[in-house]
Amino acid sequence: MCTFSKVLLAITVFSWTPIVTAILPLTDRVLGVVQQRPLCPARPASPEFQRAASTEFISEIFFEPNGVTESFDNFISPDYIQHSPFLLSGCNNTLSVLLSASTNVNITILQIMFDSPYGMVHYRFQAPNSTAIAFMDLWRFNGTCIEEHWDVTETFPENATNPIALF
Ligand SMILES: *[C@@H]1O[C@H](CO)[C@@H](O)[C@H](O)[C@H]1NC(C)=O
Ligand SMILES: *[C@@H]1O[C@H](CO)[C@@H](O)[C@H](O)[C@H]1NC(C)=O
Ligand SMILES: *[C@@H]1O[C@H](CO)[C@@H](O)[C@H](O)[C@H]1NC(C)=O
Ligand SMILES: *[C@@H]1O[C@H](CO)[C@@H](O)[C@H](O)[C@H]1NC(C)=O
Ligand SMILES: *[C@@H]1O[C@H](CO)[C@@H](O)[C@H](O)[C@H]1NC(C)=O
Repeated sequence: MCTFSKVLLAITVFSWTPIVTAILPLTDRVLGVVQQRPLCPARPASPEFQRAASTEFISEIFFEPNGVTESFDNFISPDYIQHSPFLLSGCNNTLSVLLSASTNVNITILQIMFDSPYGMVHYRFQAPNSTAIAFMDLWRFNGTCIEEHWDVTETFPENATNPIALF
């Protein structure tokens, strides 16, 4: 488990209503098992369960109070393989940066996709007094557990030619 103080973070968001309501514990109806949290280390899970868990993870990490810590504790492998260029692998390395960097930002979810074992989200990230950034995050599940992450980011350019650039 990737454990941190649970009082550090309050993300302020305005732009998205979570498309699923947290149901705890999540039931894997295909396998006929209740998947208790935390979901790591990996246990067998159906693609249907992974899809629900992927959406739930995105909902919690962006929109729940203390959601970054809670979602990392519950969904992310301690041995998280990280491909983001400025973060090292291991869940704590990502968590500590997210906790220090993500207050008072507006997140607008644009697309969510899932095709087992990969979950993906495209969103607009707006920090105070900053240029908006487009993010695409990609996660790989192993059974119940998210074990690997990639992201691609692009800052909104100053003189974009395209009126629908990035978003
Ligand atoms: C993450 O940090 C917490 C708090 O220091 C520690 O208890 C935990 O073992 C660490 N997890 C890993 C995977 O290093
Ligand atoms: C976030 O959205 C709210 C409501 O539209 C706005 O008042 C606030 O300034 C925005 N914050 C940022 C960082 O863009
Ligand atoms: C954003 O810019 C305004 C105007 O320059 C300033 O008053 C405010 O403190 C800035 N906010 C942040 C979070 O830097
Ligand atoms: C998935 O997790 C299991 C149990 O920890 C491990 O044995 C297996 O190698 C993992 N599979 C992949 C593709 O990482
Ligand atoms: C954007 O356009 C303005 C006005 O033409 C120009 O002054 C500025 O250098 C341009 N910025 C970039 C990054 O091209």
